[in-house]
Amino acid sequence: MGAALVRQLCAQGYSVAAVARRRELLDALAEDAGGGPGRVLAYAHDVNSIDEIPGIFESIVHDLGGLDFYVYAAGVMPGVGPEEYDTEKDLAMVDVNLGGAIAWTNPVARYFHSQRAGTIVGIGSIAGDRGRKGAPVYGATKAALATYLESLRNRLAERAVRVVTIKPGMIETPMTEHLDKLVMPISAEKAAKDILKVSRGRLWNERHVPLRWLGVSMIIRSIPSFLFRRTNI
Ligand SMILES: NC(=O)c1ccc[n+]([C@@H]2O[C@H](COP(=O)([O-])OP(=O)(O)OC[C@H]3O[C@@H](n4cnc5c(N)ncnc54)[C@H](OP(=O)(O)O)[C@@H]3O)[C@@H](O)[C@H]2O)c1
Repeated sequence: MGAALVRQLCAQGYSVAAVARRRELLDALAEDAGGGPGRVLAYAHDVNSIDEIPGIFESIVHDLGGLDFYVYAAGVMPGVGPEEYDTEKDLAMVDVNLGGAIAWTNPVARYFHSQRAGTIVGIGSIAGDRGRKGAPVYGATKAALATYLESLRNRLAERAVRVVTIKPGMIETPMTEHLDKLVMPISAEKAAKDILKVSRGRLWNERHVPLRWLGVSMIIRSIPSFLFRRTNI
């Protein structure tokens, strides 16, 4: 989804900084998307290297000549077996999905706070709506991310900074390749288009993508615990 967002922003004429670990994919993205009116600057970085973040952020703002739109889209969701309680694997998810999100979003929030403008977008998940048997820690990271973003939204509202939480349904990306079946899937390109539309509008602070997942989410949230634990959703 991150790559699709970069491609679409670039096609619309924006200059975009793309951050991820795989340098060769970043360079290919920069070359591919750079054919459009915008340009892509690539920064190879592992969000676990928290010490690097302030320096890279400063370089991005310098190289782009400012910043007004930011998306944290990094995430990992390894498969977890029904009898698996693997702390190392679980904490690796916490580090990328939550720790990395906080470490990157804090300096962005400080910057937008000072300039009294900007939009912060975080990619949460409907997986954070309930404690699912199949994804105890992935869901927990997304629930915590949504709460963190809500706090930033409330903090930054008076500085005219917008904070948006996107809750995608099932999107066809490498993250979901290992799943047997996707329910109501959409492409990363369609998801990115929706994410940009929602983030630029004023109507939603938290939005399901596509919107039909809102109804599903409301039903799932309303299932009593004693029944929910008998399901595999
Ligand atoms: N796909 C879905 O159905 C779905 C549903 C709900 C929410 N989401 C969320 O949407 C976001 C995007 O997911 P996706 O579906 O686009 O997954 P994806 O295709 O697997 O992309 C994940 C991205 O995160 C980057 N990343 C992973 N670990 C990183 C690290 N340690 N440091 C820096 N970058 C890292 C990856 O780049 P490198 O590997 O090059 O670092 C990649 O660009 C995630 O937060 C995910 O949890 C996805």
